[in-house]
Amino acid sequence: MNILVLGSGGREHAISWKISQSDLCKNLFIAPGNAGTNLVGNNINLDINNFKRIKEFVLDKSINLVIVGPEEPLVKGIVDFFKSEEELKNINIFGPAKTGAMLEGSKDFSKEFMFRNKIPCGKSKTFSKNNLTEGFKFLDDIKPPYVLKADGLAAGKGVLILDNLEEAKSELKNMVVDEKFGEASKNVLVEEYLDGIEVSVFAVTDGRDYLILPEAKDYKRIGEGDTGPNTGGMGAVSPVIFADNKFMEKVETRVIKRTIDGIRKEKLDYTGFIFAGLMNVDGDPYVIEYNVRMGDPETQVVIPRINNDLLDIIIKCFDNKLSEVKLDIKDGYTTTVILASEGYPESYEKGDTISNLEEKKKNQIFHAGTINEDEKVKSNGGRVIACTGEGETIDEALENSYYLADKITWRNKYYRRDIGKDLK
Ligand code: AMP
Ligand code: GLY
Repeated sequence: MNILVLGSGGREHAISWKISQSDLCKNLFIAPGNAGTNLVGNNINLDINNFKRIKEFVLDKSINLVIVGPEEPLVKGIVDFFKSEEELKNINIFGPAKTGAMLEGSKDFSKEFMFRNKIPCGKSKTFSKNNLTEGFKFLDDIKPPYVLKADGLAAGKGVLILDNLEEAKSELKNMVVDEKFGEASKNVLVEEYLDGIEVSVFAVTDGRDYLILPEAKDYKRIGEGDTGPNTGGMGAVSPVIFADNKFMEKVETRVIKRTIDGIRKEKLDYTGFIFAGLMNVDGDPYVIEYNVRMGDPETQVVIPRINNDLLDIIIKCFDNKLSEVKLDIKDGYTTTVILASEGYPESYEKGDTISNLEEKKKNQIFHAGTINEDEKVKSNGGRVIACTGEGETIDEALENSYYLADKITWRNKYYRRDIGKDLK
């Protein structure tokens, strides 16, 4: 079958790398891809938000399946577009339609969904410039730290956690009145602070059945010891020691099952990955957020642990046969360390030649912000390479990740040296 993967990050390289190993895969295209995806398929220079151009390409290359990596085209309705176009109707597209993508596209919608479906989460209320005074009163009545969340998509930057009441009020005003995060912060959730450790849980669903994939822990802050601004994620580990069987059973019954039941009952149109960002509060899971896609860099540790044919799993979703799949997970640990450009998540330079990209046994490099230029691989983004290592123990996996992290070089490489250290 002919497959098109949309996106250009480490997540898309990991998905494409796995798909390319399937006997069911004939031609694999990645739009726009990166220097890594070009090694496992063919990069196509397409704007992933230009649905008309995607349609032309899909028809031209007789694509049978489209896998959508990032959330933006989903929230913008790429799945609805496919379903509404006569010639695209029968082409499978893996990802939720707009109604399902709202679970990520609007934090207000997703919180209301959680409340309705009795999914454990922090209490919250949503405010806009029209009821700002009520928002101030709400802040007066709750305890710090104060969590403020922009309702819409804000590229991972829309959450502020503040200790000071006056600062929280002033930031709430900045967000709703001055639209600090643009349209995204016209509505802002003020949420109860959840004190615990985070873990990401992923599932594949056809909107009726689900298959829970291995969990992972992501390291979001730029600095060691979880300091500095939030990033997309600077490293990840799977499995997560504290997510033991007892905890994961609670995740399944209280979160995943109720989420999928809610999707079905509320008739959200959903086939795809779903990702619950959870807080483990004294052994109980609380949902911080949903994402309607895989995580990046979590994919770079989750996918390598799956022995099954991922393409077969995806096809089974469209054939209503997901319940037939028995997941086969590798023992041991998988870790990934992100190599970023110095300056990320703020400004950084691009265009440096990357050296020592050869792969070693038990290690796997996934490219993110890289590009082929003048027959070289050059840096082309904030997060550049994910160094994934496997091992029987977490130490062995980390050793394999850090072997690559030290070896791969370019002028302004930066990485955290403490990934996984808190889990040992
Ligand atoms: P989100 O974009 O919703 O994932 O939030 C970004 C980060 O803010 C999360 O990964 C958490 O570390 C933190 N966060 C979000 N909501 C809460 C909360 N209610 N309590 C504590 N931390 C939170
Ligand atoms: N690593 C978190 C995310 O993909 O949203």
